[in-house]
Amino acid sequence: MEIKLKFPQYRPRRGRAKANIRRMLRENGVQVDDLIYPLFATDGHGVEEEIPAMPGVYHLSVDRLKDEVQEVLNLDIPAVLLFGVPEPAKKDERGSEAYNREGIAQRAVRAIREVSEDLVIITDLCLCGYTSHGHCGLVRDGQVLNDETLELLGRIAVSHAEAGADIVAPSGMMDGMVGAIRSALDEHGFTNIAIMSYAAKYSSSFYGPFREAAHSTPQFGDRRSYQMDPANAREALREVALDIEEGADIVMVKPALAYMDVIRLVAERFDHPLAAYNVSGEYGMVKAAAAQGWIDERAIVLEILTGIKRAGADLIITYHAQEVARWLSA
Ligand code: PBG
Repeated sequence: MEIKLKFPQYRPRRGRAKANIRRMLRENGVQVDDLIYPLFATDGHGVEEEIPAMPGVYHLSVDRLKDEVQEVLNLDIPAVLLFGVPEPAKKDERGSEAYNREGIAQRAVRAIREVSEDLVIITDLCLCGYTSHGHCGLVRDGQVLNDETLELLGRIAVSHAEAGADIVAPSGMMDGMVGAIRSALDEHGFTNIAIMSYAAKYSSSFYGPFREAAHSTPQFGDRRSYQMDPANAREALREVALDIEEGADIVMVKPALAYMDVIRLVAERFDHPLAAYNVSGEYGMVKAAAAQGWIDERAIVLEILTGIKRAGADLIITYHAQEVARWLSA
């Protein structure tokens, strides 16, 4: 049906005349239900160390993590995304600390589970924070190996599930990782543990502050042989299709802001729940400008997150989650 809109019969401004009309006609918005809050767990006791370039985000030892989780629960945020940050001395070539039952991620999951049965615990599943070379897979002769890495990812997934995670989130961009993890979980009886796949994860400069935080900067080379080229959009659809075929329950596009078109494409093409990761560099830029008094932080953050929803994301992983939850409930 083709309708020719004509002025003055149609006046769009009638729909903007007062706050309650705007409220009624609003198409998209952010709700606390959409938010996932990232947490960084570290060894020690009483540790609460602010991450440079991520003001308001901390490395927390497990005891402090429990307090933070209580705050997340108070704000009614449904889920956290947990990153384990092991001591540098525990890193090795194979990232074996990543699947240690007594590793930092596994202990942190158990501690969070003690605080709440209901909170959805999502664990980032990757080797880069645990390998001495800082890559997301096993390395031989300067190459990041794919198939050899898959078995390890399965082991990490099982260790997270045993600790009490609800969802594992593989972020290493190895081909076949979702299938390998699904099989490993199923073989160990974890058929109800879901997979949120970093399906279209770009090789992005927006991860800079996070890599400082996770001490996961590659010691040689970069991640361009496994993370996606920022110039590509159609390739993201193939990545997402593969991950859904392999058993992903939720797919993700990451980063969010420079990739809104990719979020929209994936949302239109697939019926799967879609998450977008509002990454560390995106957060840091907002915080820096706000600290200078150059922007209205609250308005900017809500506009950014609304934009991500409008693009088609169902869920948003964001370091702003706590402040947004506070603003939404105020
Ligand atoms: C680990 C991982 C990264 C992020 C999430 N998981 C960094 C990377 O791939 O280098 C980035 C998160 C952020 O920047 O907020 N593979």
